[in-house]
Amino acid sequence: PTGVLGDALGRPLHDLRISVTDRCNFRCVYCMPKAVFDKDYAYLPHAALLSFEEITRIARIAVAHGVGKLRLTGGEPLLRKNLEKLVGMLAALRTPDGRAPDLTLTTNGALLAKKAQSLRDAGLNRVTVSLDALDDAVFKRMNDVDFAVADVLDGIDAAHRAGLGPIKVNMVVKGGSNDGQILPMARHFKGGPYILRFIEYMDVGASNGWNMAQVVPSIEVARRIGAELALEPVAANYSGETAARWRYTDGGGEIGLISSVTQAFCRHCTRARLSTEGKLYTCLFATGGHDLRALLRAGRSDAEISGAIAHLWRARADRYSETRGLGPGGPGRGADKVEMSYIGG
Ligand code: GTP
Ligand code: 5AD
Ligand code: SF4
Ligand code: SF4
Repeated sequence: PTGVLGDALGRPLHDLRISVTDRCNFRCVYCMPKAVFDKDYAYLPHAALLSFEEITRIARIAVAHGVGKLRLTGGEPLLRKNLEKLVGMLAALRTPDGRAPDLTLTTNGALLAKKAQSLRDAGLNRVTVSLDALDDAVFKRMNDVDFAVADVLDGIDAAHRAGLGPIKVNMVVKGGSNDGQILPMARHFKGGPYILRFIEYMDVGASNGWNMAQVVPSIEVARRIGAELALEPVAANYSGETAARWRYTDGGGEIGLISSVTQAFCRHCTRARLSTEGKLYTCLFATGGHDLRALLRAGRSDAEISGAIAHLWRARADRYSETRGLGPGGPGRGADKVEMSYIGG
C-alpha cells in the first residue's frame, strides 16, 4: 500500500493495539468484576486465539499501512505463554521508511518484576503499568484478588532498571472507591522517573455497572492536586495523545489526565484494536469487529487482507466518546458493547 490511509473523518491509522489474551489475574471492579468473570466464565479456547504468526502477519500488514505504534494488551498480556517470542517477532518489523515501530505493552505489573528483563531483551521498547492506589486496602478492593501494592511497585522498578522507559503509570479513578488516593499517588510519583496518568472511569463493556456519578472529571483531579502542588499545562507530545499533560511548577515532573468521558479525544483518534481472536475493531466502544482470522485461516493473500483492512479503515466514522449521552449512540446502548478485557485497553 502507498499513501496515508485516512478514515471517513480524515484520521490516519497510526496505532494498533493487540489483545493477546482475554484472561487476567486481577478482577478490577471497573473491568472484570468477579460477579461476571467467575469460575464459570467462558474464556476463549486456545484454538480461537490468534497464533504469534497470525498476529505478526496482521501487524506487518498494518505497519505497511502506516502504523508506527504497536501496543500489546489484554486481559493481562504477561499471562500469554512465551510472550517474549511474539515481542521478538514484532520488534523485527519495519515501517515503509525503514524504522522499527514503537513497541509497547500495558500491564497490571504483577508479573513484571519477573519478566521485565526478558521482555527488554526480546525488543520491547516501553511499558505502561496500571496502579489504582498506594494504600494496600484500597488497592486490594480495586483489584479484588488481594494483590499488594509493593509487588506492583517492584515490577515498575524492575522495568525501569531494564530500560523499559519512560514508564507511564495509569490510575483509573472511580469516585467513591479510590479517589481518596489521587493525592497520595501524585505525591508518591512526583519528582520520580515515572509519569502518572489519571484516567476517567469509562462506560466501556457491559458488565461494570458504570454510572456517571462515579466519574471524577479530570478537571476535578487537577483541582485537587493543584490545590497542594502547583500545576501548569504543557503542550501535547503528538496529535491524538490521549492524555492532557500538566507539570509541577517546581520542576517535579509531569502528570497526565485522560478525560475520555468529559473531554473526548475522538477527533484525533488513530487507534485500531485487534481482539484476542482476531477481530479488528475501529473503536473501543464498538459493538462488532471484523473477522480477520477468518481471512487468514481461509488462506487469503497478504494483498487481500491488506485490502480488507484499508476498506474497513476508510469507512470508519466512530466517535463514541464524543456522542455518548446524545441519544441512541450514548451510554444507553450499553448491553452489546464488547468488554475491554477482550478487545484490549
Ligand atoms: P502512550 O501515550 O503512547 O503511552 O499510549 P496511550 O496513552 O495511547 O495508551 P495507554 O494504553 O497508556 O492508554 C491509556 C488509557 O487511555 C487506556 O487504558 C484507556 O483507558 C484510555 N484510552 C486509550 N485509548 C483510548 C481510546 O481510543 N478511546 C478511549 N475512549 N479511551 C482510550
Ligand atoms: N475505564 C477506564 N479505564 C479502564 N481500564 C480498564 N477498564 C477501564 C474503564 N472502565 C484501564 C486499566 C488499564 C488500561 C488497560 O485500561 O486500568 O490502565
Ligand atoms: Fe485485568 Fe487490567 Fe482489567 Fe484490571 S484493568 S481486570 S488488570 S485487564
Ligand atoms: Fe477512538 Fe472510539 Fe475512543 Fe473515540 S471512543 S477515542 S473513536 S476508540
